[in-house]
Amino acid sequence: MLKIVSIPGDGIGPEVVASAVQILDVLAEKHDLDISIEEHLFGGASYDEHGEMLTDETLEACKNCDAVLLGAVGGPKWENLPHEKKPEAALLKIRKELGLFANLRPAKVYDALISASSLKPEILSGTDFMVIRELTGGIYFGQPRGYDDNKGWNTMVYEKYEVERIARLGFETAMKRKKQLVSIDKANVLECSQFWRNIVHEIHKEFPAVTLTDMYVDNAAMQIVRDPKQFDVIVTKNLFGDILSDISGMITGSLGMLPSASIGSKHALYEPIHGSAPDIAGQNKANPIATIGSVAMMFEHSFAMPHVAEEIYQAIETVLESGMRTADIANDGDNVVSTDEITDAISAGLEAS
Ligand code: IPM
Ligand code: MG
Repeated sequence: MLKIVSIPGDGIGPEVVASAVQILDVLAEKHDLDISIEEHLFGGASYDEHGEMLTDETLEACKNCDAVLLGAVGGPKWENLPHEKKPEAALLKIRKELGLFANLRPAKVYDALISASSLKPEILSGTDFMVIRELTGGIYFGQPRGYDDNKGWNTMVYEKYEVERIARLGFETAMKRKKQLVSIDKANVLECSQFWRNIVHEIHKEFPAVTLTDMYVDNAAMQIVRDPKQFDVIVTKNLFGDILSDISGMITGSLGMLPSASIGSKHALYEPIHGSAPDIAGQNKANPIATIGSVAMMFEHSFAMPHVAEEIYQAIETVLESGMRTADIANDGDNVVSTDEITDAISAGLEAS
């Protein structure tokens, strides 16, 4: 049995997760899979009910399943809570508690959507790389941290084992792709980055078939928009990965398209990279493709069924080629459809394939 915990969350979260659940139902039927889906509260929805964003009950459920599917959390309603009560803090807690040390964000361009990007088609066409962001260390978690009336401070710190395991994942991922890994740091300024670089080079000895390149983060930000095709796999620290994965996501056209996987040695969580988009919540307008793509990543990474993942990507591609678009990716003259309609079309494609 494949045990999934679903966390619809806030804003458009419930709508896009409902779409993903519909796809899971189709796949269960088609491949005769025993899938159980248990829904839990997280984020603002949990705060309104229990006074906290992440309850022990939700956390326990996440620890006792094969994969977590998350919609989106947060919204204006909960923005003014104290720092430690905000949805962001709960997100960091769930990452840490589940040991999700790696965040995988593919930057892949669907041919049908090339015109939606802010980059020229000839620069973009053929772009397909993976950003691997370290997710449970670095400045996001380092101590001491705080602020008073006169100063604010955070600490960027990496332990050797933290760099080793993310570097290994970077090399392993590159081995399955074009065998090119770019490690991104700021070793010209930060000691912590020099340390990162040293360890990445040590781990490189285990993977001599992979070409390793070091790149400074400022240059990397430029290179991603200048010539995204040069990248195959990127591995980087938590904060740099936060920024670079948004840039990488945006060049592919729409944040509504991109899935992500956060994985650790025991647990995994899958979520679209977009936020809760409260302005369009409840209107049947949201783009469910990023969440459906996150289900594909789940089949690949948690269930070791890459062929099912491939079917999902194919079904998405076919629907896009048919000209169907949700509003966020539509141009003049496109066939603009609702969340339900595009989900039904992808389901139908999967049933037929
Ligand atoms: C992300 C988000 C989060 C992060 C926020 C919401 C805490 O930007 O997943 O990239 O900074 O990690
Ligand atoms: Mg971010």
